[in-house]
Amino acid sequence: MKALSIQQPWAWLIVNRIKPIENRTWKTPYSGPVLIHAGKKVDRQGYDWVLETFKNHEFIKTMPTLEKMPTGGVIGASYIYTCTKISKEKIWKGHNYAPWYIGPYFLELYKPKTFEMEFIPCPGKLRFFDIPLKIETNRAYRENCLATMLRMPSGFIDLTVTSPPYDDLREYKGGVKAFDFEEIAGELYRVTKPGGVVVWVVGDQTKDGSESGTSFMQALYFKKIGFNLHDTMIFKKKNRIVTNHRRYEQEFEFMFVLSKGEPKTWNPIKLPCVEAGKKRKWKDTCVGSKNTKSSKAARYRSGRVTVTGSEKTKGNIWEYATGAHMTKDKIAFEHPAIFPEGLPRDHIFTWTDPGDVVYDPMAGSGTVPKIAKLAGREWIASEVVPEYCDIIDKRLKNTFKFPPKEVE
Ligand SMILES: C[S@@+](CC[C@H](N)C(=O)[O-])C[C@H]1O[C@@H](n2cnc3c(N)ncnc32)[C@H](O)[C@@H]1O
Repeated sequence: MKALSIQQPWAWLIVNRIKPIENRTWKTPYSGPVLIHAGKKVDRQGYDWVLETFKNHEFIKTMPTLEKMPTGGVIGASYIYTCTKISKEKIWKGHNYAPWYIGPYFLELYKPKTFEMEFIPCPGKLRFFDIPLKIETNRAYRENCLATMLRMPSGFIDLTVTSPPYDDLREYKGGVKAFDFEEIAGELYRVTKPGGVVVWVVGDQTKDGSESGTSFMQALYFKKIGFNLHDTMIFKKKNRIVTNHRRYEQEFEFMFVLSKGEPKTWNPIKLPCVEAGKKRKWKDTCVGSKNTKSSKAARYRSGRVTVTGSEKTKGNIWEYATGAHMTKDKIAFEHPAIFPEGLPRDHIFTWTDPGDVVYDPMAGSGTVPKIAKLAGREWIASEVVPEYCDIIDKRLKNTFKFPPKEVE
């Protein structure tokens, strides 16, 4: 992928979405994604200028010292929108580009596509140069999932099971700086195999007496970009709920099952039939609706005797205990919003076969990768908060691969 070498602190300011442009002495017709490479050389004078010019800005509090800024490798990615030449006088003083502009050319960076990524050490070069990106399975990436997906070729993932940070229901460590839903949805579509599935587990916040509706808006956006809304499933929480509002208390979340075309794998979960072995004599119940498919089937069955089988396919409301019953891994509870292990287990067995690749772009405590590993699937996780990534690494280290039947 195309890369551009930039001195610190400018590279840090770009990937943290503070500096919206990059000054150059040369013109380029290139527009598209670019890796931000932090050069070995740093700009000490520039760093002091930033400290002085922006002393009253919030970002100064989190800006590392120049010594702590990584150098000699890729630290993030962005998107070049345009390359423009403009005279200093023409830049409107109040514009957010103005303090950063030196010219004569500037590359306008498309902010929502700008993010930090795990450090990739490599030497820099002048102008644009190429850095090949690789993806490894069975590891957690400490970065924005957009960075991880950038490493993936198209059609790479069989199944994604994930739960985004919806509305502002929970406080994640360090705060999640930006959640670019549309960018993430678009990338998920690209990296999903034809026939692959994305399970998007989401709920709504109620604010000022009204639900946000974010879950529906997201499901419809997924449809708009090409996914089938294969099934709107319900994750019902088994635990006792506290009833302290003037409405029926929330006891479920949506599990939108989105597929890229018809799902290629379908291993339905079967349940024992209560009426197993029971004989039933069919009656002609469809008099008056002669031309429908069901009336033809009913006439065909009329008078026949059938025996109820021993199993039936499970319905689309799945119930799991939450709270302390979600996992035996104590460390997982250091994360505020974990999945019960049964949830990813049931989706992984339904939509994949052993050896398939399972992805969780917002992996939290690592429940999805843990279950994927136990079930003999390849897995990839992304988690943007480093402390949560530590939980994933520790949890996965203590997880050993078992044949699927041994996953509880
Ligand atoms: C609802 S939690 C997921 C919990 C997970 N299902 C589990 O079982 O532990 C969402 C997680 O997404 C992470 N996150 C938010 N935006 C992200 C992004 N763009 N890339 C990677 N991780 C992100 C948050 O830090 C948070 O840990």
